[in-house]
Amino acid sequence: MDDKTMVAFLGTGTMGGALLKGSLDGGLDAGSVRVTARRQSRVDELVAAHGVRGTTDNAEAATHASVVVLAVGPASIPDVLGEIAGHLTDGAVVVSIADGISLEDLRGGLPGTVSVARAMPSLAAEVGSGLTLLTFERGCADEQRNAVTALFERSGEVLEVDEEQQADLSVLSSGGPAYFFYVAAAMIEAAAIRGVNRDLGRRLVAQAMAGSAAWLQRESEAPDELRARVCAPGGAGISRIAELDERAVRAAFIDALTKDV
Ligand SMILES: NC(=O)c1ccc[n+]([C@@H]2O[C@H](COP(=O)([O-])OP(=O)(O)OC[C@H]3O[C@@H](n4cnc5c(N)ncnc54)[C@H](OP(=O)(O)O)[C@@H]3O)[C@@H](O)[C@H]2O)c1
Repeated sequence: MDDKTMVAFLGTGTMGGALLKGSLDGGLDAGSVRVTARRQSRVDELVAAHGVRGTTDNAEAATHASVVVLAVGPASIPDVLGEIAGHLTDGAVVVSIADGISLEDLRGGLPGTVSVARAMPSLAAEVGSGLTLLTFERGCADEQRNAVTALFERSGEVLEVDEEQQADLSVLSSGGPAYFFYVAAAMIEAAAIRGVNRDLGRRLVAQAMAGSAAWLQRESEAPDELRARVCAPGGAGISRIAELDERAVRAAFIDALTKDV
C-alpha cells in the first residue's frame, strides 16, 4: 500500500478501533485515514486519540478512499452499503469484516466500478499480532488485493482463504483470544489460591502463553508431543493434565468449538 492510499474505517467500535490502532502503530499514516461511528462522541474520541479525520457521515468518509473497511455490525451493513454506494471512487475496494456477510451480499449492494472483499480479523490486531482471513471476489485486480493485504498486514498476519473456509477458520483465529483469556483467567485464579499475587500471576501466565506460542510456531511436533516434553512421567505436570482429562476439559473444548451456535 503506498502512502497515497486513503483508507476509511466505517464503524469504529471494538474491532474497528483495534484495527485502526494496530494499523497506525504498524505505520499507517494517520493523515490518510477517515473513521466513522454512529455517535459523534465516539468520533471525537477517535480523532483525539489517533489524529485521524472523523465524521458520522459514512458517505463523506468513503468518498475519496481507495480502501473502505466496513466494521459495523452485520445488521447495519445493508444500510451502510446504501449510504456509500453512490459515493465511492472508481477502482476502490470495499472490505467487510462483518460476520456472516457474504461477497454476494456486498456485490448486490455496490456498483460494478468497485471491488469487494471479506476479512475476518482478530482483536489481537490492536497489539500488532492479529491474523486476518481475507477473501477477494473473483476478478479483483492485483492493485486492489495488494492494497487490502498491505493494510491488514500492518496489524498482523494475513491469510487468503476460500470464502467457504471463513466460518470454520474464524472459530480459531478471531475467536481464539477468547479461549486463551479464559484459560489465562483460570490459571491466574489458581495461582492466587496458591498465594501468588495476581499481577505476578498474570505476568507468568502471559509469558507461558507467549513461550508456548513461539514453540508451537517453530517446531513441527504435534502439541501433545510438546506437552509430553513438559510433563515428565510421574511428575506434577502429568498429574494435573490427568486431572483435567478426568473432568473432560479437552472434550468440552472440542464440543464448544465444533457446535453450531
Ligand atoms: N469483536 C470482535 O472480536 C470481532 C472480530 C471479527 C469481526 N468482527 C466484526 O466486526 C464488526 C463490529 O463488531 P464490534 O465488536 O466492533 O462491534 P461494536 O463495538 O458495537 O462496534 C460497532 C461500531 O459501529 C458503529 N456503527 C454502528 N452503526 C453505524 C452506522 N450506521 N454508521 C457508522 N457507524 C456505525 C458504532 O458506533 P457507536 O460507537 O457510535 O455506537 C460502533 O463504533 C461486526 O460486524 C463483527 O462481526 C468483530
